Amino acid sequence: MSKKGNKGFFITGTDTGVGKTFVAGLIINALKEKGIDVAVMKPVETGCAEKKGILMPNDALFLQKTAGVTDDLNLVNPYRFKEPIAPSAAARFERKTIKLSKIKNCYQRLASKHDFIIVESAGGLLVPLNRKETILDLIKLLKLPVIIIASINLGAINHTLLTVKYAKEAGIKVKGIIFNHPEENKKGSAKLDVIKEVKRFTDVPIIGEVHFSEKKLPEQVISRILYL
Ligand SMILES: Nc1ncnc2c1ncn2[C@@H]1O[C@H](COP(=O)(O)OP(=O)(O)OP(=O)(O)O)[C@@H](O)[C@H]1O
Ligand SMILES: [Mg+2]
Repeated sequence: MSKKGNKGFFITGTDTGVGKTFVAGLIINALKEKGIDVAVMKPVETGCAEKKGILMPNDALFLQKTAGVTDDLNLVNPYRFKEPIAPSAAARFERKTIKLSKIKNCYQRLASKHDFIIVESAGGLLVPLNRKETILDLIKLLKLPVIIIASINLGAINHTLLTVKYAKEAGIKVKGIIFNHPEENKKGSAKLDVIKEVKRFTDVPIIGEVHFSEKKLPEQVISRILYL
């Protein structure tokens, strides 16, 4: 793979807490096993705990550690806030404004240094970043395809189809959907029907499933991520 930095994707979800970071970790490990040098970014993180006066962006730190990169944390995570609320509001709370141009600048610096780049969303597509722009605008600016992480739970069909439809209508390339099981399967649940139902209503590829406490992504899943 060339070092042009034009290979990568934006990992978004049907909601917050659906497993974007968990799944991103598995993808990073799989790419590294293939000898691919992966850059990571969590452009905006809220709800950061404070340690000795320093804000700790846990997702960004986890992604950075998993990828094993030495890039400056301020490039990996240019915006971090303490309040566990939407980025636009968390920034306003600190009298700051999130600028998409600054995120793009950090992105370009990282992308130019690595083979591949994975950018993790703050929540889902319509999470506001400032008064006028959302995650969707950031995805368009970075010109990245998206992978949607959907948590398999009640409501997943509706949330997944809404996210897919909105992304497609906005002209974003959807590489596919990964269904994640952030909780252990309960006996007698009809969780697997979620995937069947989603397939009935969209032609977006289903990249695969990540089971509870999965340690490694199947080869088939990783090749779909690389070649879809
Ligand atoms: N497949 C899984 N197996 C076990 N635990 C999981 C799995 N997926 C997610 N989790 C756990 O569920 C929680 C939420 O997952 P995660 O932090 O990856 O969500 P997220 O979508 O990145 O959230 P955020 O919107 O805050 O960035 C975490 O504690 C994570 O370790
Ligand atoms: Mg996360």
